[in-house]
Amino acid sequence: MAIRDILKTSDNSEALRNTSREVEVFDERLAILLDDLKETMLHANGVGLAAPQVGILRRAFVISLDGEDFYEFVNPVIIEEKGTQIDEEGCLSIPGEYGYVKRPKKVVLTAFDRNGEKFEIKAYDRFAVAICHEFDHLNGVLWVDKYDKELTEKKNRKRKNKKSSENENKYEEGN
Ligand code: NI
Repeated sequence: MAIRDILKTSDNSEALRNTSREVEVFDERLAILLDDLKETMLHANGVGLAAPQVGILRRAFVISLDGEDFYEFVNPVIIEEKGTQIDEEGCLSIPGEYGYVKRPKKVVLTAFDRNGEKFEIKAYDRFAVAICHEFDHLNGVLWVDKYDKELTEKKNRKRKNKKSSENENKYEEGN
């Protein structure tokens, strides 16, 4: 396994904006790619990483919300979306920036594992968000393309106000 370089939007790499191709051969190279994605994601403290983020335009990504349970998806297809949720998202390719994005509350998808076995999985809440975020990467779509600007600015203002009033209190207590 190896840690690969994660492309950033600031690199102006086309790989982050292109549509990835389906995986056709389930071989040792695919297994190495999936292992490397996993290691690279863990190293960067991420919860998901897609192949195009390391410059490989293939439809594959890995997810681990807790760093213990790992999921890998090859040639995923979303077959059902239900409900909505809005939460804050970041991306290892856009470090230090966060925005609120509307996503389905539940997704059902089919995908293949590294051995070419097809499976179906239902995902809810944060897992559904992670799947949709990584799935978007396979089509060259990033959260900055679809986030709620107004809500994000409002939340950031609130956070800033809270922080400055906390600092004020600290200052007063210190005196
Ligand atoms: Ni991302």
